[in-house]
Amino acid sequence: MTTTQSFVPAFGNRPSQLVGRDQEIAWFLQGLAGPVGHPGRATLCLGQRGMGKTALLLEFAAQAAQHGFVTAKATAGETMLAELIEGIQLGGTKHLPKAKRLTGASVGVLGFSAGLTFSPEAERTLTFRAKLSLLCQELGEHGIGVLLLVDEVAASSPPIRQLATTYQELVGEGRNVAVALAGLPAAVSSVLNDQVLTFLNRATKVHLGPLPIPAVTAYYAQALAGLGKAVKPAELERAAAATMGYPYLLQLVGYYLLEFAGNQPTIGSDTVELAVTASRQALAEAVFAPALAPLSKRDRAFLQAMAADAAPSAISQVAQRLGVSADSAQQTRRRLIGHGVIAPAGLGEVEFTIPYLAEFLRGKL
Ligand SMILES: Nc1ncnc2c1ncn2[C@@H]1O[C@H](COP(=O)(O)OP(=O)(O)OP(=O)(O)O)[C@@H](O)[C@H]1O
Ligand SMILES: [Mg+2]
Repeated sequence: MTTTQSFVPAFGNRPSQLVGRDQEIAWFLQGLAGPVGHPGRATLCLGQRGMGKTALLLEFAAQAAQHGFVTAKATAGETMLAELIEGIQLGGTKHLPKAKRLTGASVGVLGFSAGLTFSPEAERTLTFRAKLSLLCQELGEHGIGVLLLVDEVAASSPPIRQLATTYQELVGEGRNVAVALAGLPAAVSSVLNDQVLTFLNRATKVHLGPLPIPAVTAYYAQALAGLGKAVKPAELERAAAATMGYPYLLQLVGYYLLEFAGNQPTIGSDTVELAVTASRQALAEAVFAPALAPLSKRDRAFLQAMAADAAPSAISQVAQRLGVSADSAQQTRRRLIGHGVIAPAGLGEVEFTIPYLAEFLRGKL
């Protein structure tokens, strides 16, 4: 393990080790090992920004590879179905016997020209569903399953619906297939209202919250020891507690611990202090500042008034605190939802969508 690989404060990468998601992974693997149509084979990961949705999907892919699955990953959108097909073709070919990879052994029967490449005619005429079914069939003959990952699921677009119905049909055909999707809770709830997506309602929902602090402590202990850095347990615990279990902050704090430790073999309380401060600043600059920048003074005052609440805020109370009319509060509410900073919670309530923004606004971060 090198210093640069141990902690990477970024978004959308696979961490050198996934901390504290053992249960989610165990359930997913149970699904893959279970029969076609097992609820664990359709998984929907929900979590706020930086909570580790993409990291978990990437981990699913790595684990699935060890269990005989080919994975294709796409970001929700116009081109995702084509990307999924391509991903299976690219990843699946190596699992075919050599002869089949090169020759058109199955031309005419399945529509493949060589390996998992479709003949030009099949490519042109077959639907997504037909292509996926053929790929599953061909790979299934060699004992290989198919896992489809779709990240950043947002609105109920036609491709998502098509994926949902296709998945159900393939399950009906007995194909060895699984899907895992990820998205922001507020964005996905709009998808779930769609009738066509009842299958998502039945899917296993994985709600990604903060990581357990003891798991973060254990990870820091192991990673830092591996790098030859001595840290007292109390300091490790302090560093871990400062992450609040937020995966992005886990990476930041780890990164700065190493940065400030430099060549010193010991990480003391001063270094931890510096690392925690620098991480909070970096979090503010990377996440909070860009979220607040486009907002008007009135919008920010609304957020500030919300921050006084521990959990979801009642709009009526926020309006009262600000001394504005219910109408005006509703307008601000709509604008802030549009900016993706808050989301509807219960009836007449809203909540922050950005982890720890409330703490930041309260000056507690
Ligand atoms: N369980 C974990 N253990 C250690 N690091 C993690 C874990 N989950 C995520 N990370 C790291 O935290 C950062 C944010 O994770 P990720 O990009 O997966 O979040 P996300 O939920 O997909 O965010 P977004 O909503 O912006 O897409 C990345 O650097 C990632 O490597
Ligand atoms: Mg992501």
